[in-house]
Amino acid sequence: MAIVPPTPANIDAAARALRSGNLIGIPTETVYGLAGNALDDRAVAAIFAAKGRPQFNPLICHVADAAALEPLVVMDARARALAARFWPGPLTLVLPRREGCPVSLLASAGLDTLAVRVPAHPVAQALLEKAGVPVAAPSANRSGRISPTRPEHVAGDLGSGLLVLDGGTCTVGVESTILDLSEPQARLLRPGGVAVEQIEALTGPLAGAGPGIKAPGMLASHYAPAKPLRLDAGAARGKEALLGFGPNVPPGYTTVLNLSPSGNLAEAAANLFAYLRQLDATVCDGIAAMPIPENGLGLAINDRLRRAAAPRDVAA
Ligand code: TXA
Ligand code: MG
Repeated sequence: MAIVPPTPANIDAAARALRSGNLIGIPTETVYGLAGNALDDRAVAAIFAAKGRPQFNPLICHVADAAALEPLVVMDARARALAARFWPGPLTLVLPRREGCPVSLLASAGLDTLAVRVPAHPVAQALLEKAGVPVAAPSANRSGRISPTRPEHVAGDLGSGLLVLDGGTCTVGVESTILDLSEPQARLLRPGGVAVEQIEALTGPLAGAGPGIKAPGMLASHYAPAKPLRLDAGAARGKEALLGFGPNVPPGYTTVLNLSPSGNLAEAAANLFAYLRQLDATVCDGIAAMPIPENGLGLAINDRLRRAAAPRDVAA
């Protein structure tokens, strides 16, 4: 078993492995990441290969603190304010690459921007500090599948040969919010772990906010369980399992996992991917999901559910 506890010795070994070009599964507060040295073209190429990820889809670069970004990207006043308010935490900023930026061009997928984030998870923090290099890390799932929020999910998806640092269950449970700051108006590319309302309180209205947004590089079908997913579930149809939310669960389901019986969106986000995996593994014809309010973390949850329910042959 390659899931190891985050002892100082294991973090040291993981940092050395990263620096010498190997891939590691790492915990973050959002989801587990498949981490590689972002300065190393071969390590970055290996990330794409391990995930089966299309090479036009760029990666997020993780660092221990905003100061480490100085040689990599150009941060304007907006970026600094957002960094001061939300880092470390589940926010990713897309910024212009600085001239001479040493990060592999493959990580940017040929764009002149780089997505960057300072994760809050203490194990990720310790590892990034030790590694001393920027770390490219997409979610540690096969491309198109459900993101991992437990170390076992990573091993199940990418193989047990991969070394995974055990950071427990991810507390946020959905990926980071992605903001594009490469143009004068800030644009929301992906709703995520920081609520849009909190960001807009600082930046003013974001372009692209609202339900059903489309981010570049994000496929229509994503986060998909093997079984079909039906949204806005009422009463059960056939032998469906129910992904519930709130106190009023509709009738007719024998298998129910409730994201949050009290209707708490942060709790629902934290449970989302693990419950989708659990329901997918039960004997049922499909999964029906109850409606989730379209505000706060509900935006991120609904975004993931819509993609999970999208037709699977839309490999845009
Ligand atoms: O919470 C997270 O962000 C997790 C953890 C591991 O940090 N990572 C994550 O990475 O979700 P990934 O690769 O699964 O999703 C990154 C998204 C993709 O949709 C990609 O298209 C977008 O970020 N992205 C990356 N670089 C970009 C860029 N330069 N411009 C626009 N979008 C970018
Ligand atoms: Mg992903």
